[in-house]
Amino acid sequence: MPTLVIIGALWGDEAKGKLVDVLASDADYVVRYSGGNNAGHTVQAAGHTFKFHLIPSGVLHKNVTAVLGAGMVVCPKAFLDELETTKQKSPELGRILISSAAHVVFPYHRTLDALEEENRGEGKIGTTSRGIGPAYQDKVARVGIRMCEFVDPERFRARLCEVVEYKNRVLDMHGKPGISIEPIIEEYSAYADKLRPFVCDADFEVNRAIHAGKRVIFEGAQGAMLDLDLGTYPFVTSSHPTAGGACLVGLPPKKVDNVLGVCVAYTTRVGSGPFPTELSGEFADRLRIAGNEFGTSTGRPRRVGWLDLVALRHSCLMNGFTSLAVTRVDVLSGFGSIKACVGYKIGDEVTTEFPADTALLSRAEPQFETLEGWDGDLSACKSTNELPSGARGLIEFIERYTGVPVSLVSVGPNREETIVRDRGLLI
Ligand code: GDP
Ligand code: IMO
Ligand code: MG
Repeated sequence: MPTLVIIGALWGDEAKGKLVDVLASDADYVVRYSGGNNAGHTVQAAGHTFKFHLIPSGVLHKNVTAVLGAGMVVCPKAFLDELETTKQKSPELGRILISSAAHVVFPYHRTLDALEEENRGEGKIGTTSRGIGPAYQDKVARVGIRMCEFVDPERFRARLCEVVEYKNRVLDMHGKPGISIEPIIEEYSAYADKLRPFVCDADFEVNRAIHAGKRVIFEGAQGAMLDLDLGTYPFVTSSHPTAGGACLVGLPPKKVDNVLGVCVAYTTRVGSGPFPTELSGEFADRLRIAGNEFGTSTGRPRRVGWLDLVALRHSCLMNGFTSLAVTRVDVLSGFGSIKACVGYKIGDEVTTEFPADTALLSRAEPQFETLEGWDGDLSACKSTNELPSGARGLIEFIERYTGVPVSLVSVGPNREETIVRDRGLLI
């Protein structure tokens, strides 16, 4: 199938990066379309661990054109650093393009991110402090600086002066020192010189490629439940990590072939916000360590809990997943019987519907089904038949509950530790 959208089904870190890398061997383009370096996508391949924040995770394949697309907010320094560290481990990469419509993240966005979090007090979101929210605020307020302006020295200076003047009025209101323009111009002009060769109307090229029948993967960042409109608002990110988000930036809706929803065999979340199946205490600590659940971008310990099938089925409906990938199945080995949430008790009622009201969700008591556990090392399993019956049972239970087939099972962080069950549902 020529187009495949791969997204996180729940709250991020589902192992999208690993699976994009696995599937990119058969792709012509891999396109990021939302978020910025709040994302952290891990790929373990050829003896190295790569942590991608901005560069699409398919870039290790020379056949791939990796696109930082419209819809993204890009920190130039983070991009250049990432390019450098990636090339040190893998000198030959695919072609990289940056959309002229992508927005640029500046230091004042990070300052404002920290300031806004401070102002939220108890209600803080727990952002990645990468300036993502403030960069999207500028985009929506129509004062953001786009890549096409950034790499044009004259326009860059004029636009920056305009924006900084406005920001300084805001900082002044908070009693904070203003931003000096010249140091930013000096530092960022050097970045602009380095970025210029990558910047082009990349989204139009991708669109032409789709129409020409090329194989294109859209690599979602974050997860559907962090979507600005459909997620657990206000504990969300500022963009659209849903499948539909890809259509906002050049994937015509009728050209979407397959949509792969990635979920972990349990659930994780970083930052604040409701998490009905969350575990605590020693069991949670043990699971966090077994799964190495520490943020790829920020190193923060991830919150962990049992698989939330109510949220997953909701995500399936919202995103129209044509199949699911279940990852980190190996991590649950040796934990005894496992649980999956099949309903929420909210007040006196039990429901299988995911509520849009975050206040209701935070009162939801999970109703669990207990499933057979398993032991042993799964990393060498190459087909579902080789998995222990408990792990197979979990996959089948997910399929039955959601009505969506599981096309991929991941049993370890390495490229090779992947079971492909149905290639036809992928790319
Ligand atoms: P992403 O943001 O969705 O790309 O996911 P992250 O890279 O932030 O987090 C996924 C983590 O799980 C990384 O540390 C991966 O190396 C690791 N990982 C991916 N698949 C598996 C798996 O099947 N088993 C185990 N144990 N780890 C995995
Ligand atoms: P990947 O692509 C997990 C979370 C933050 C915070 C909220 C808002 O690696 O799955 P932001 O900095 O975006 O304003 O923070 O969103 N968040 C993520 N959680 N994985 C991510 O990306 C995330 N990107 C943002 O923790 O709760
Ligand atoms: Mg991540």
